[in-house]
Amino acid sequence: MCGIVGYIGERAAQPVLINCLKRLEYRGYDSCGIALLGGYTEIYKDAVRIEALEKSLQPNDSVIGIGHTRWATHGKPSEVNAHPHSDCSGKIAVVHNGVIENYMQLREQLTGEGHVFSSETDTEVIPHLIEKYYDRNLEQAVSRALNEITGSYAFITIHADSGELILSRKDSPLIIGIGDGEYFVASDVPAVLDYTDRVIYLEDGDLAAITKQGISITNNNERVTRVEDRVPWTVEEAQKAGYEHFMIKEIHEQPKVIRNTFAGHISALESEVELGLKNKEMGFSNILILACGTSYHAALIGKHVIQKLTQVPVTVDIASEFNYSESVLGNTLVMVITQSGETADCMKALKKAKELGCYTLVITNVVGSSAARIADDVLYIKAGPEISVAATKSFVAQLVMLYLFALSRSSIDVRSRASLIAELRQLPNKIHEILNREEDIAEQGRYLAGYENAFFVARGISYPVALEGALKVKEIAYIHAEGYAAGELKHGPFALLTPETPVIAIATRDNTYETILANIKEIKARESPVVAIAEDGDDEIGKYVDAVIRIPSVDPLFAPTTAVVALHLLAYYTAKERGCSIDMPRNLAKSVTVE
Ligand code: M6R
Repeated sequence: MCGIVGYIGERAAQPVLINCLKRLEYRGYDSCGIALLGGYTEIYKDAVRIEALEKSLQPNDSVIGIGHTRWATHGKPSEVNAHPHSDCSGKIAVVHNGVIENYMQLREQLTGEGHVFSSETDTEVIPHLIEKYYDRNLEQAVSRALNEITGSYAFITIHADSGELILSRKDSPLIIGIGDGEYFVASDVPAVLDYTDRVIYLEDGDLAAITKQGISITNNNERVTRVEDRVPWTVEEAQKAGYEHFMIKEIHEQPKVIRNTFAGHISALESEVELGLKNKEMGFSNILILACGTSYHAALIGKHVIQKLTQVPVTVDIASEFNYSESVLGNTLVMVITQSGETADCMKALKKAKELGCYTLVITNVVGSSAARIADDVLYIKAGPEISVAATKSFVAQLVMLYLFALSRSSIDVRSRASLIAELRQLPNKIHEILNREEDIAEQGRYLAGYENAFFVARGISYPVALEGALKVKEIAYIHAEGYAAGELKHGPFALLTPETPVIAIATRDNTYETILANIKEIKARESPVVAIAEDGDDEIGKYVDAVIRIPSVDPLFAPTTAVVALHLLAYYTAKERGCSIDMPRNLAKSVTVE
């Protein structure tokens, strides 16, 4: 998604803006640009990578500027559609994330008043509206412009006659990084980590004016103060640390991440889980979990785990679909799982759940994210910054948090709970064992890379893992892959099975094992090659499949956590063999802030 940055201080703004934009590259973009303030406003932008923009720039000593990475929504990627956008005078520049819903109507009206537009974007109405209301006070002009805008936005604007940054947000994140006599603005914390870990998270409706002397924030025309927070992430965590890609680095971080996730939540006697929720007495008759993409797959696994350990009925819905449902929720805990805490579909679902009067709990990775701030309660998975567009370590951390949640409310006896906690504690070691077998999995990845279609199948608690494996292969290796409940293949997809359609079957030894073996034999009878994900010590499976990826044995409840690590590695090596852009797959964005 789009990223925005801004700088005001003593140093040359241009290299700072370029560096901050590079830190946002992972979000996905197709164009970029900057605007610098001297005695006039200079804009440099194009549908190019940031390195190319950087090379085209001349040194510039301006100390105020804004920048943008664009992920096209209104109008194709092109120089003219890239941000910053300007007004007729050329004095104003604006970078914007979000969608201005009434832009067509505003554009018509402004055109009638003599404004000339050059792009196809919704954003361009913002500088023109500001120009319309500008009377030597930029903040006031922005405030008046905001009264006419409907939709979502985080934007920064500068004006050649005014040495300040003016910014505002609604339904799109915006933070201010605080330095020593300098300020950084960004849509996402990693952008400013090279310079500061002191941040202010703006709230919806905030309008901020930043000069070198300080920040003033108003909301609804009232002066407000926002507390300064410390970011719990380091610059090193947001770098590749010698790995070829962020994705493989993040897969390798998983043992450490799991330990972080459960740190502080398990009692000294190892038999109780304490999550520190505000509402410990939550007595809900049912739970609804909402999420998108990979987080949705974690939710599907969470359903199995929570129902098994607590006997509380759980339903799971895709966040964007929940937004259209005629929901009757009653005494329901609504849990929203979102790595970024900014996914627009999740935010809309969360707001709807709150409007329906439900108690809301968010499981997220990002401290201070929009979801974390509006939910009634929040659980942080503490996975550290996840830069690769493909979610890996956050998925495993979400699973661990769901295990902890279920264990904290479980109706099982103390001994069984202690034994599950002991097993949970072993997960980092088990994942280490899988990482040690990376080369074997890479070999299967190189094999899968030769195909254009594949199925991932499983049953029961592992079925969402099949969905996740297929999503990853689609997302980063551009192979058409379908995740299927193994029992469903014969109800249609069998027609697609040929020697050109490999099937990856998750066959861990739980109560579904015998049936999935039978399914594998049916698949082999249709001549599809089969690669099984199977446990150490399973001597049977090798007789029926073409290759086996081995994973260590764990309690069936935890098997998704180990199986998925193997599938993430498989997808990574498949994509690598196909020469794909692994960390920034085409057309995708890390944080999806539009519906
Ligand atoms: O930040 P979120 O967890 O809300 O993101 C949800 C999805 O956009 C995300 O999981 C997406 O599916 C991943 N890129 C998959 O690897």
